[in-house]
Amino acid sequence: MAFWNLVHLILGYARKLRRHSKACLTLVLILIILYLIPTPRKHYNDPQMFDKFNNESGLDYAIIPNIVHYVIFNNQTIDFITFLSMVSVIKFQKPELIMIHSNIGSLRGYYWDIVQSLLSVTNSSIEFHHTPIPTHVYGQKLSSIYHASDVTRINVLIKHGGIYLDTDSIVLKNLNHFLHFEMVLGWPETEDMGSQILLAHKNARFLRLWLNGYRIYKPTIWYYNAGQYPTEQILEKRPDLVHRVKLKLGVHNILTKLHEDPSWDEWREFYSIHVLARHYPGTEEMNEVSMMTSQSPYAQIYKYVLYETAPYFDIHNVVLKQNLHHWVFKKN
Ligand SMILES: *[C@@H]1O[C@H](CO)[C@@H](O)[C@H](O)[C@H]1NC(C)=O
Ligand SMILES: *[C@@H]1O[C@H](CO)[C@@H](O)[C@H](O)[C@H]1NC(C)=O
Ligand SMILES: *[C@@H]1O[C@H](CO)[C@@H](O)[C@H](O)[C@H]1NC(C)=O
Repeated sequence: MAFWNLVHLILGYARKLRRHSKACLTLVLILIILYLIPTPRKHYNDPQMFDKFNNESGLDYAIIPNIVHYVIFNNQTIDFITFLSMVSVIKFQKPELIMIHSNIGSLRGYYWDIVQSLLSVTNSSIEFHHTPIPTHVYGQKLSSIYHASDVTRINVLIKHGGIYLDTDSIVLKNLNHFLHFEMVLGWPETEDMGSQILLAHKNARFLRLWLNGYRIYKPTIWYYNAGQYPTEQILEKRPDLVHRVKLKLGVHNILTKLHEDPSWDEWREFYSIHVLARHYPGTEEMNEVSMMTSQSPYAQIYKYVLYETAPYFDIHNVVLKQNLHHWVFKKN
């Protein structure tokens, strides 16, 4: 609209200044040409280029690569919840690439075979990146494999950019519009930010500040460097560094509802959800068979991801007959 108003204005002048009409016409033509040439896309080769980045509206093109990262230490097999996470991201996000950062190498086993058969019908590919478990951060000894994984996810995002997922984060909708920002994370009202799903450009300023926070590493406090420090010392002072998502990345505490309240269906609005399945009593017996008889939102999510979202798994031929190694994809 503004552009055409400008054209009108210029044409108005042109009428007044008949003598200069040729010059004005040329000017209008130049403006039209400039308008039609697309503005060049910035590549953000340097964190400083993000100064004054608009964290509310982002850009009109994606700058975060559609690459999904998992960090899997000391395991050659994946469990049921990791399987569900991978199926969900393959179906909803259709990443170009899934990178598995592991100290062991490739994966194998029953659930992994199913993930691979799903990959053969979508076009995502998988790469393994050999990643030793870090033992220290800024010269201080890391106290657990969990803290080692926390540090690794930041380093992985600094190296590659992309979408980091915990192995118990389930994707429920396509995340593409979040790829237009410098960095996106779940940060619920009155809680610490969540580190279970992170979307970042590799030069995102927050990633460097967060890592730098490990200079004051607190080995005995579970969520200090991963959540409390970056929230209190970085984000509360500089909320413009990230695109904050309060609820819809599902990192807030919904554990009881998720496992006990069959009427809770808010998850249908979410882009992702952190199911914390390994920390809830009873979930260790959950698998593709027991899920079919449960009414919990967790089981509903399982059914939604596997059987209500294409490409489909055929329940009758596959799960119920327990012909488990021959998963068939139902034709749509
Ligand atoms: C790793 O392996 C252990 C033992 O088999 C299992 O309990 C755990 O859930 C696995 N973790 C993942 C992320 O698959
Ligand atoms: C995968 O790629 C092939 C060839 O580029 C294409 O024909 C096919 O439709 C793609 N499949 C999906 C699920 O996108
Ligand atoms: C963007 O940054 C401003 C501070 O400049 C903050 O108040 C706002 O909540 C942020 N918006 C989002 C969506 O993160």
